[in-house]
Parts: sequence; structure tokens; C-alpha cells
Amino acid sequence: MTDHYAVVGNPIGHSKSPIIHRLFAEQSGQDMEYRAELGDLCDFEEQVADWFKSDLQGLNVTLPFKERALALATKKTSRAVIAGASNTLRFNSKTAELEADNTDGVGLMRDLQDRLGIELKHKRILILGAGGATRGILGPILEAHPALVALTNRTEARAVSLVQSMQIALGSCPLVFNAQSELVQHHTAFDLIINATSASLKGEVPPLPPGVWAEQTVAYDLAYVPSGETAFLAYARQQGATKCADGLGMLVEQAAEAFYWWRGVLPDTAQVLKQLRSALAK
Ligand code: ATR
Repeated sequence: MTDHYAVVGNPIGHSKSPIIHRLFAEQSGQDMEYRAELGDLCDFEEQVADWFKSDLQGLNVTLPFKERALALATKKTSRAVIAGASNTLRFNSKTAELEADNTDGVGLMRDLQDRLGIELKHKRILILGAGGATRGILGPILEAHPALVALTNRTEARAVSLVQSMQIALGSCPLVFNAQSELVQHHTAFDLIINATSASLKGEVPPLPPGVWAEQTVAYDLAYVPSGETAFLAYARQQGATKCADGLGMLVEQAAEAFYWWRGVLPDTAQVLKQLRSALAK
């Protein structure tokens, strides 16, 4: 019997999730269908309940519903709780519970560590942005035992409140925030700079303190573009960064982890990333 899955967001037309999950299903011989649904800004909760009642086994959730998705679930993984948001739901028919996970952080870590070979242990990491994307990745980054994580944001107060709201979950960690002035004073270069702002979606580069780039600095943008070079990555190259990557790899990896959580099968992501990159370039 064919199982049914979907992704919900608003807007949703741009989502690559249906292509990715169809490729995973084809590759692993899973009998499933995956569709895109436009979420209703008012009636999201009713929609989700209806879909799970009628045919869905699992649902991916994208902007702006990730926090509401977490609130809907009665069972939550700790990484979803730490992020305060869920991008993956499933219905457990044995317990009749709606369960929530967050695979964004593990998606980034797999892309960085496994595909790009970037080790985070003892490294100095700068994260730009303090929105939902940062929430999703902060926990797994800190678990990788970096030497330091610095967080900066255009609106400083938002960085402060993000760290304060996550503090209990994060415990004691090598995290500095509100860091613009401190970074300027110390002129400290970083091993890895992650752009978790939405600036690239508008072709803009977020403001950066001086002295953060060095020859070995890796630049990673959570956003992706067909060419693979976002405005932030183009700027990073100008600053001398030689290793740069956009977020298409993370997108495929977070989808693979969701697929695993639903189906118990971990797909071959390298092949799907290649197919997706060439489809985007057309
Ligand atoms: P979310 O829904 O995930 O919170 P968002 O409101 O679009 O997404 O914000 C994502 C992040 O991108 C925020 O840190 C935002 O900075 P502000 O808190 O100052 O708004 C950041 N951001 C968006 N556009 C930006 C730009 N052009 N330059 C720098 N930062 C930007």
C-alpha cells in the first residue's frame, strides 16, 4: 500500500522537498507519494489534523509554521525542543501520538563534517543571524565541542533574546553573543563563518565585523542559489576564503534524516545532491 507524505509552508511553490523525497523513494524502492501543501496562516492546526486523519504518515514543515508544528505534537525529540521548532512530524499509529523532530541541525552537521570534511571540534565559529535558522543549528554546533561560537545579528537585541531563551537547553557553552564590539576589539579571525540570515534571499550581504576572515576561513551559507554562489559567498571569496559552500547540501541532508525517521532507511545523499544541483542549473 502506498504511504503518503507532504511538505507544508506558505509560500510553498519554491520547495525542493517533493523532488528530493521522490528521488529518495525511487532510489530505496519505498512505496510512497510526497506532495506539497500550501499552509493556511489561520487554520494551520486544523489542516494538519485533517491531513493526518485522512492519509498522511509524515509531514515536513517549513516557514512560517515550524514553531506551530512543534506545539501541535504530544511527543517531541530533544533536538526539536532545544530548537523550539519542528521541521518533521509523524503520526505514531501504535500510540496515536503526533511526534515532532527537527532535522535541520543534523543536516548541517552531516553536510559540513561528512561531505565537506570540516571538523568543528576546537574550532572558532561565527554565526550571523538570530532567526529561526540559527535556533535550528545552534544545539548541534555546540555539541561538536568548538573552541568558541560567536553570534552576531543586525538587530543586537534579537541575538541576546535568542541566547537567553535557549540558555537552559544549551547549558554552559563557549558561546558569546552581542559580539560585534568584542570582535572588533580583538580582531579575531574565525575558522568557520556560517550565514544563517535571510539576507542572501534578497541578494544582500549581512554586515560583518572586520578582522574575521583569514586564509583558512570556511564560509557556509544556509541559503542556496542555482549557481552555488550566494552574495555572501561571493563576498567571502573576495575576502580570501577558498572553501565556500551554499546550503543545498544541508537541505538534502535534513531531508534524508527526515526520510530515515519516517521509513528507517537512510538514502544516498551524494547522488541526490548531484541530481538536484544539475536540475537547479537548468
Ligand atoms: P525568521 O523567520 O527565521 O526569524 P527572519 O525574520 O527573516 O527569519 O530573520 C532571519 C535573520 O536574518 C535575522 O537575524 C535577520 O536580522 P534582524 O534580526 O536584524 O532582522 C537577518 N537578516 C535578514 N535580512 C538581513 C540583511 N539584509 N542583513 C543582515 N541581516 C539580515
